[in-house]
Amino acid sequence: MHPGKAAVSVDTIMQESEKFQAHYAREKGGKPLPWHHAEPNRFLDPITETRDKPGTALDLGCGSGVDSVHLAELGWRVTSLDFMQQALDMTLERAREAGVTVQPVLADVTEWDNDSPFDLLLDSGLLHNMSRDKIAGYRDRILRWLQPDGDFVLAHWESRSDSDRLRGGARRASRSQLVEFFAPELIECRFERLEAEGLPERVGPDLSVGFYWFRRS
Ligand SMILES: C[S@@+](CC[C@H](N)C(=O)[O-])C[C@H]1O[C@@H](n2cnc3c(N)ncnc32)[C@H](O)[C@@H]1O
Repeated sequence: MHPGKAAVSVDTIMQESEKFQAHYAREKGGKPLPWHHAEPNRFLDPITETRDKPGTALDLGCGSGVDSVHLAELGWRVTSLDFMQQALDMTLERAREAGVTVQPVLADVTEWDNDSPFDLLLDSGLLHNMSRDKIAGYRDRILRWLQPDGDFVLAHWESRSDSDRLRGGARRASRSQLVEFFAPELIECRFERLEAEGLPERVGPDLSVGFYWFRRS
């Protein structure tokens, strides 16, 4: 099962790593990363509050490290994974400025091997950019890397109207598609939706961002 119908997507004409190389090259030239968010993911604080103490966290596709560094500041032992060296450099610099440490991993998420499961997995914007042939491998890894009582946080684009199907950018998936994709092993325990604004014309004005908090069933 694929989480989402494809919009007319740059995925179809460009390998995913090339797309990110272009974004990071523009960032080096002074243009902010298009997905930049100053605030950390909304579920990180509530999840931390449910636990006696923070444990281990894996930030999948950490980007510039806003979420990784926030988790480290909350006391989590954070592994920050990205297949772009520049992302890890930005994350390490952010961590240094904040006076915390994170463990960087330069790897494709579907190729990295790791034997120690994590208490928290976070994916803010990786899955919806992933090519379809890798999605099954991604799901296998999420299930393998998540502790039995672990939390999995996902942020994924969602269409708001039919016109959105003609737009570019990352893949859209509905809430029911994503819940089905991770079932039966994971269940959604919290969901929130953000109506995104101010996106470029080529991406379109219609989309929403779904924020998911999954746990093992
Ligand atoms: C949309 S950005 C989001 C970055 C960050 N999570 C955030 O919220 O700001 C997606 C990130 O995932 C990384 N990425 C995409 N596909 C990946 C893969 N298959 N393996 C590892 N990293 C990947 C990209 O390099 C990029 O930094």
